[in-house]
Amino acid sequence: MSTHIAAKEGQIAQAVLLPGDPLRARFIAENYLENAECYTEVRGMLGFTGTYKGRRVSVQGTGMGLPSHSIYVNELFRFYDVQTAIRIGTCGGLQPDVKVRDVVIAMAASSDSGMAFRRFGPRHFAPHGDFGLISKAVEVAREKGIRHHVGQVVSSDMFYDDDCDWKLWAKYGVLGVEMEAAELYTLAAQFRRKALAILTVSDHMATGESCSAEERQNSFRNMMEIALEAAVSV
Ligand code: HPA
Repeated sequence: MSTHIAAKEGQIAQAVLLPGDPLRARFIAENYLENAECYTEVRGMLGFTGTYKGRRVSVQGTGMGLPSHSIYVNELFRFYDVQTAIRIGTCGGLQPDVKVRDVVIAMAASSDSGMAFRRFGPRHFAPHGDFGLISKAVEVAREKGIRHHVGQVVSSDMFYDDDCDWKLWAKYGVLGVEMEAAELYTLAAQFRRKALAILTVSDHMATGESCSAEERQNSFRNMMEIALEAAVSV
C-alpha cells in the first residue's frame, strides 16, 4: 500500500516526470498536459496525470534530497507499475564550461550519500541513466538548439557545503551537484525500470553566479520539453 501518494490503481501513467517542487509539477500540468487531473495532495506533494502529444504522462513532486526522493520513487515503482521515471531539477555547475542556464543530461551519478553507504557499504555501485532515454534527450536538445552537456553529476546529502567538498568532484570532471539522481538511478536498477535526470544549472559553485527568476523559468522550460519528449518516446 502506498503511504505518501494517494492515487488509486491506474491513475498514474507508466511514464512520470519528477520535479522536486510540487508547484513545478502543477506548472507542467497546467502548461503542457491536456486534461490534467490531480491524483494526490498528501503533504502538498502534488501529482497530476494528463496527456502530452496524445500519450499519458504523469508528473509527481518528490521534495528535496535523496531520502524524500526515494520515498516517492519507491512508491511509484512498487505500487503503481511506473516504468519510466525522469527527474527534472536544478544543479550547481562545477566545470567552467557548464554555464548557468545550460542543461545537464546526467549519464551517471556519484554520491556522498548515507543512503549509498547503507546499501553498499564499502562497495561502489555506479548508478547510471537509461541509455535510450539519454540518447533521446540528447537528440531533442540538439534539435531544439539547447546548450547541453552529457556526463556525470554528484548527488549530495548537503546543500550548505561549508567545506567545499564539491572541489573534489570537480577535479574528476563531474559536471554538477544536485541531491537526488543517484537514488533514482539506484532504484531504477533495483526494480529494472528506466530513469534519467535532466537538470538546469541554476547556480555555479566556482563563480557564485546564479540566474534570475525569469531566466530560471525560461531555461526550465527547455528542460521540461526535453523531458516530455523523452517520456513519450518509450
Ligand atoms: N547543491 C545541491 N543541489 C543544488 C545546488 C547546489 O549547489 N544548486 C542547485 N541544486
